[in-house]
Amino acid sequence: MPIKYIPFIPEPVEGQAVLGNFNRILKYKGADDVSMVLQRGMPLYEMEKQETVGGNPDGNLVIRGECVSACAYLKDRGIQVDLVYIDPPFASGADYAKKVYIRRNPKVAEAIAQAEQELDIDELKAFEEKMYGDVWDKEKYLNWMYENLMAIKSVMSETASIYVHLDFHVGHYVKILLDEIFGEDNYQNDIYWYYYNKLHGATKQVFPRATDMILYYVKNREAGFTFHHLTEEREKPIKKLKYSFVNGHIQNDKDESGKSITYLSTERQIDNVWKISMLQPADKTEPTGYATQKPEALLERIIKASSNEGMLVADFFGGSGVTAAVSSKLGRRFIHCDIGLNSIQTTRDRLKTDGAQFQVLEIKDGVQLYRNPVQTMDKIKSLIPGLKNEDSLDSFWEGAVTDSRLGTIPVYVPNLMDSSSKLLDVVTMNRIIHQAIPDLDSSIKKVIVYYIDITSEEEIRKFIAQDDSTDVEIELRDLKAVLDGVVIGDWAEFHVEERTDDLFGRYAVVVDAFVSDRVLQKIDEFNQKARMNATAKKPFKPIEISDTGLELIEYLSLDCTAGQGEWHSDSEIKIDKNGFVIRNGEKTKEFWDGTIRSEKKPLRLKIRNICGDETVWEV
Ligand SMILES: C[S@@+](CC[C@H](N)C(=O)[O-])C[C@H]1O[C@@H](n2cnc3c(N)ncnc32)[C@H](O)[C@@H]1O
Repeated sequence: MPIKYIPFIPEPVEGQAVLGNFNRILKYKGADDVSMVLQRGMPLYEMEKQETVGGNPDGNLVIRGECVSACAYLKDRGIQVDLVYIDPPFASGADYAKKVYIRRNPKVAEAIAQAEQELDIDELKAFEEKMYGDVWDKEKYLNWMYENLMAIKSVMSETASIYVHLDFHVGHYVKILLDEIFGEDNYQNDIYWYYYNKLHGATKQVFPRATDMILYYVKNREAGFTFHHLTEEREKPIKKLKYSFVNGHIQNDKDESGKSITYLSTERQIDNVWKISMLQPADKTEPTGYATQKPEALLERIIKASSNEGMLVADFFGGSGVTAAVSSKLGRRFIHCDIGLNSIQTTRDRLKTDGAQFQVLEIKDGVQLYRNPVQTMDKIKSLIPGLKNEDSLDSFWEGAVTDSRLGTIPVYVPNLMDSSSKLLDVVTMNRIIHQAIPDLDSSIKKVIVYYIDITSEEEIRKFIAQDDSTDVEIELRDLKAVLDGVVIGDWAEFHVEERTDDLFGRYAVVVDAFVSDRVLQKIDEFNQKARMNATAKKPFKPIEISDTGLELIEYLSLDCTAGQGEWHSDSEIKIDKNGFVIRNGEKTKEFWDGTIRSEKKPLRLKIRNICGDETVWEV
């Protein structure tokens, strides 16, 4: 439940139909709901400090949470940003997956190395995990987008700029939203990112698509904004006329014989078509593995064009952390926000390797309760006792449970992949009472409504009690209670050795064995699928995990400063997908030896498994 609500805009205009203009053009359903949400304000939640990397004098932030709750936090703290880049999910109907790599087990390294010679490394070691879904219908998406853009606008300084990265799915619709939110006068340009090197395969598209659009606005053109013209090298130098300004007029320069003077121009001003290579898996210079990762070169242009050193750059859908990483390299301050645990871990590790300083925060807005919404939704039927599909029900209902006295009881479950349905508020309850329940068969006596977050249980109960349009009983249930037990912690066996002659520290925590039920379950599912899809040409080769299980570890960290609370990574080891160690952010060509060392006595050990679950043990 939120602590309080923060207004979106400084002076909300009472009674103004927020989506008025847009409505006139599209009249899409649900536009009234977003007006109510905007009047209520942005929910502000508690914030937990997870870790500070370095002294962080510039106040850089890596925030796990939803865009709107992150904006509420920033606004409450009076933090204003100078430049925003966002690359939100596109409503493309895609489920994004992350490749998970089994690491090299130091205890059975030889066996693995041999198998690598026989098999393609990716096939041997990688399986996929669904990360987050991108599955809205257009109307819901636009409502959600509107709310997010309003929240973002509320934390932009008067002279700030915003770049919204989209594609053909919704780009043209969102342009209209942006016109309404920022004003047509503040529209600057569409940038077309031309990713010329994308493999099209045997596409049936009339013209294969090779562009994304990036819509560029400023908060208030009148107040001024930062912009620097950029240049790039020409593919081929061209001959150009030399000219000068004489008495305010442009004039060609001539030589003594009256001939125009020319020169070879090797640079050109960057226009709004940006030809930048798409990241390919073969590209080893930028970390890949995040499904929708954008190239640093793209962000470099945006950040160089629309900010100065020291300015604050924010990305509220940060993904792999490209905006934060480039901002840091260019001497800008940064805020990275994302709902995904994998994004936070990828960004944290990326920034650490770059030597950046920052604080990791987690907003207690509910997203931390389900580390992987796609998988949780897949499992939801098995988590709620008695819940079964019921063909006669509308898709609004997840299914039904059967009660000997009351018969069929329809069950509503918020879609964890669609963050707009996470909060149970008066708007959703109004829809349940006035649309969903009247559509049910008249024999239904009761419904169950699960929520992941609720504005106020008292307010919702009062709202239900005051509305006498239905006799159907409505039971509210907290989905968190169901999800709490879903993730089983990992198990590790380790011992500490004191060493006098160790280069990397006096204390060595030696990991003897590691078990992660969740990862093993995933591998099991992968093996079953692979067995079914096997062919004579591509026979079934299961992923097998050793008894010690050390190949399931991606990252280890020792806290030698505090036995509880915020994490201090006094020593850390990351094992990259090829088995090489990144020690305290420094890449090496060493294989992991099964230990982590520290100079000071370790108090806590943190281990992250290859799917991203982290478990902490007292040492
Ligand atoms: C297209 S990806 C961004 C990729 C990023 N630009 C990069 O280069 O890696 C969209 C991201 O938005 C995140 N996301 C989805 N809904 C969100 C929300 N409500 N608030 C914050 N992040 C969200 C997803 O977890 C995902 O990482």
